[in-house]
Amino acid sequence: MAVSHWLLALVLFLLPFMTHVSAQQQGCSVENSRPSVYENNPPGYVVTTIHVEPGFTVMINPTSPDASFFTIQGSELQLNRSVDYETDTLLLVDLICRNTAGQSDTLEIIVTILNVNDNSPVFKQTNLTEVVPEDTKVNATIVAREDLSASDADLDTIYYELTAIVAGTDGYFAIKGVNNPEIYLQKTLDYEKFKSTTLFLYARDRPVGSTETTHTATATIEIFIEQADTKPPWFLPCTFINTDNSICISSPYTGRVNISEMSREPLILEPGPIYAIDPDYTLNEKIVYSIVGGDTDKIFSVDADTGNLTMNKVATSPDSYLLQVMATQVNNIQKYSIASVEIKVINKSHYPPYFESGIYNGTVFVGLPARSFVFQAGNPSSPLMITAVDDDFPDKVNPNIKYYIKNSTDFIATEDGLILTNVVLQSPGTVTIEAVGKDMVSLQEASTVIVVEVFLAAAVTSSDKIYTAQDMAILGGTLAAVLLIVLVFLGVMIYKQYGKPVKYLIRKKFSRETSGSYQNQSYKQDEHPDVSTKQHETSENGSIQSRTRVQPALSLPSSHSEEIDSLPKASTASTILFDQEKKEEEMEGETEREKEVKSILKTDRHVADDGYKAVWFKTDVDPDAGERVEVIEDNAADGDDDSDQDLQKNEEEEEEDYDKGDQHRGLGVSFASESSSLPAAKVIVDMSRTDDNDI
Ligand SMILES: *[C@@H]1O[C@H](CO)[C@@H](O)[C@H](O)[C@H]1NC(C)=O
Ligand SMILES: *[C@@H]1O[C@H](CO)[C@@H](O)[C@H](O)[C@H]1NC(C)=O
Ligand SMILES: *[C@@H]1O[C@H](CO)[C@@H](O)[C@H](O)[C@H]1NC(C)=O
Ligand SMILES: *[C@@H]1O[C@H](CO)[C@@H](O)[C@H](O)[C@H]1NC(C)=O
Ligand SMILES: *[C@@H]1O[C@H](CO)[C@@H](O)[C@H](O)[C@H]1NC(C)=O
Ligand SMILES: *[C@@H]1O[C@H](CO)[C@@H](O)[C@H](O)[C@H]1NC(C)=O
Repeated sequence: MAVSHWLLALVLFLLPFMTHVSAQQQGCSVENSRPSVYENNPPGYVVTTIHVEPGFTVMINPTSPDASFFTIQGSELQLNRSVDYETDTLLLVDLICRNTAGQSDTLEIIVTILNVNDNSPVFKQTNLTEVVPEDTKVNATIVAREDLSASDADLDTIYYELTAIVAGTDGYFAIKGVNNPEIYLQKTLDYEKFKSTTLFLYARDRPVGSTETTHTATATIEIFIEQADTKPPWFLPCTFINTDNSICISSPYTGRVNISEMSREPLILEPGPIYAIDPDYTLNEKIVYSIVGGDTDKIFSVDADTGNLTMNKVATSPDSYLLQVMATQVNNIQKYSIASVEIKVINKSHYPPYFESGIYNGTVFVGLPARSFVFQAGNPSSPLMITAVDDDFPDKVNPNIKYYIKNSTDFIATEDGLILTNVVLQSPGTVTIEAVGKDMVSLQEASTVIVVEVFLAAAVTSSDKIYTAQDMAILGGTLAAVLLIVLVFLGVMIYKQYGKPVKYLIRKKFSRETSGSYQNQSYKQDEHPDVSTKQHETSENGSIQSRTRVQPALSLPSSHSEEIDSLPKASTASTILFDQEKKEEEMEGETEREKEVKSILKTDRHVADDGYKAVWFKTDVDPDAGERVEVIEDNAADGDDDSDQDLQKNEEEEEEDYDKGDQHRGLGVSFASESSSLPAAKVIVDMSRTDDNDI
């Protein structure tokens, strides 16, 4: 029962005086006439004790305002029911004290009810749903304060807290302050990131972290994002350039038209037709296309609705066109994108390229380093080269054709059609691969099949194999012996052919060499005593295979076949050769050899068919460099008519050539590696000109 303030003040002022008076002069008194009681008291709660003098009785004045709350049990004034502060903050009760003589007096008791935090905050609505446009401005109010304020019967100050319970949606929505639950947008929305979220708004009647009893209420706010027209069109296909995936850039479209030819159909473009979308796909605004630049001769038109690119008239100049095509949203012309379209004007290709051979056969060895040649099957000295021809060209050679391997990564084709390994092949077997020759101008292509036999290399099983010094000594000794025999043989032949003049030459030469006037160190190093060391070096790098492979090709003219029969048993044969005369012959052989060695650094084919089998191997073929590699067939027919001029010229060059350490010509057997890793050991035997020259 509410008591007005002035009355309360008056009562409080008078109370001590009145109590004092009554305690002194009357038959009844209370311990405390102004008690305080916490609300929610249990029934029977003792408000105060009453002292009654003998002869006096006490009772509650039933007309006092809050008499119904109280009861007297013995000497105790009790509250016989629970009091709620939110209803009654002050209770007034009068006690009437009487004696038998009829003297009566009144004791007024004022009970102050103390508040206890016994109420939770309460939201007007605990579930709200808001639809928020994607393009809502930062700081804009999402839910007004009135809709979210909670009330508390205890009249506590309410502390609010907002959390997003959907992962990844934190930080977009916030409340204005801990006591102000207005929700506003804190960060720009992106429909691509999330399309809805759920927020919990907590209302507490004590600050977070308070040790007091705290009551909390929760309101749930569902937020739905509505896509807005925020993005311009994107041409497809496109690539995202930011982690937000909000910007997508297309690469140029390309197409081709035949010069002086009208195309009735829409042009076929790479990587696809001109096509743009509205990335705000729930809106999916209509897009129109137009050419806004590059069409200087008004040759092209773009269909506004489909984007199809068509021709109005023929292109007469071979220059390319670089068109700018714009895609615009119909509803907002400022939402646009521009793509470039390159139209190449090409010569009409009447015929597609084709491979004259439907199948190529190649061989290669296990364990070779990557980028080793695949050789022609049956012709192991010629690298395999595929060639597509094109009848559009008078010589059938279309310079625009580039080659590649379609379905294997173990092999690659150079742009010129040489087939190389792309890995170190591990196991022998037959590999079938498809190779394509593509005209990079007309984009027409031809394909062929290459069957590659992968063999185990006889001498080397693994590139990791360590060769012992013994292995090397045996190998070196054998090779030295072979060399010796061949040189001796040469000497014999020369001796037979030239007789005395040669002897004279030898003597002359010998005296020159011993006097030191003619010393060719690099040449010396290539002599047989060093062969084994060199062999060792090279084989450590695993490039001995080429040597072993070439060995079977050591074929000699049939007329010498009897002598050559002993070649594989060279170590035994060599012992009998070391008499004085043979040594002389050997010297002759060397002399002859010096003459015979010719330049092997050829940049192109020798124009005159002068008998030099000018096979050259590039040590380093870079398939990407687009170098033109010419492989000149070893042709036994064009043989033995070297001119003396050539001989002399080559003698002059020979020192230099030796130093360059490259390959050799003719019937000579070269033990050189095509691998670029090391200078190869040069063991060169030449027999091509022993018979009929200079006679
Ligand atoms: C409290 O006391 C009043 C009178 O004193 C009585 O009418 C009432 O029934 C009592 N209530 C309870 C709960 O005891
Ligand atoms: C949002 O409000 C804050 C505080 O008033 C202000 O600092 C900020 O610049 C506002 N941001 C925007 C985008 O208006
Ligand atoms: C150009 O000519 C080729 C070969 O006749 C034909 O296939 C192609 O469709 C032509 N290109 C255009 C754009 O008409
Ligand atoms: C022409 O437009 C239609 C409709 O967009 C499309 O399906 C077709 O692929 C386009 N043709 C070309 C050649 O771009
Ligand atoms: C197109 O053909 C002409 C003549 O036939 C020739 O001169 C020109 O080089 C060719 N252009 C291309 C790019 O091949
Ligand atoms: C590559 O393609 C050819 C022809 O299509 C096929 O015969 C061959 O088996 C394929 N090779 C591999 C390694 O897929």
